[in-house]
Amino acid sequence: MKKTILIALSLIMVIALVACSQTDVGPPDEAGDLQLTLEELAQYNGKDGNPAYVAVDGIIYDLTDSSLWNGGEHNGFEAGNDLTDEIKNQSPHGVGNLEGFPVVGELVE
Ligand code: HEM
Repeated sequence: MKKTILIALSLIMVIALVACSQTDVGPPDEAGDLQLTLEELAQYNGKDGNPAYVAVDGIIYDLTDSSLWNGGEHNGFEAGNDLTDEIKNQSPHGVGNLEGFPVVGELVE
C-alpha cells in the first residue's frame, strides 16, 4: 500500500515537472518574433499595401496605423528604415512617441 502511494506521488511529481518545463515562465518577448536585416526592413515602407515598419534602437515598430505616417512618410522621413538617430536628434518629440505602437521584431545584422 505504501509502495503504491509512493509510486503515485512520484508520478505526480514527474508530471508536474514536465508541465512546468513546458510552460514559458520567462518575460514576454518584447521584441516580437520578426528578425529583419536593414535590407529586409526596406520593403516595409508603407507603400503599395506594405506595412510601415521603423527600427529604433534595434526594435522594429509597426507605424502602419498612424495617420501621421500615411504612405510610410512623416516629415520627410520614410518607413522601412532605421531612424534611431533621426528620432533622437532631429524630431522635436523623441522616442516617447513610439510608445503604444506594436513591436513586431528586432533588427539583426
Ligand atoms: C523633423 C523631424 C520630425 C518632426 C518635426 C516630427 C513631428 C511630429 C509631430 C508634430 C507629431 C505629432 C505630435 C506629437 O505627438 O508630438 C509626431 C508624431 C510622431 N512622430 Fe514625429 N517628427 C519628426 C521625426 C520623426 C521620426 C524620425 C520618427 C521616427 C520613428 C517619428 C515618429 C513619430 C511617431 C511614432 C509619432 C506618433 C504618431 C501617432 O501618434 O500617430 N517622428 N511627429
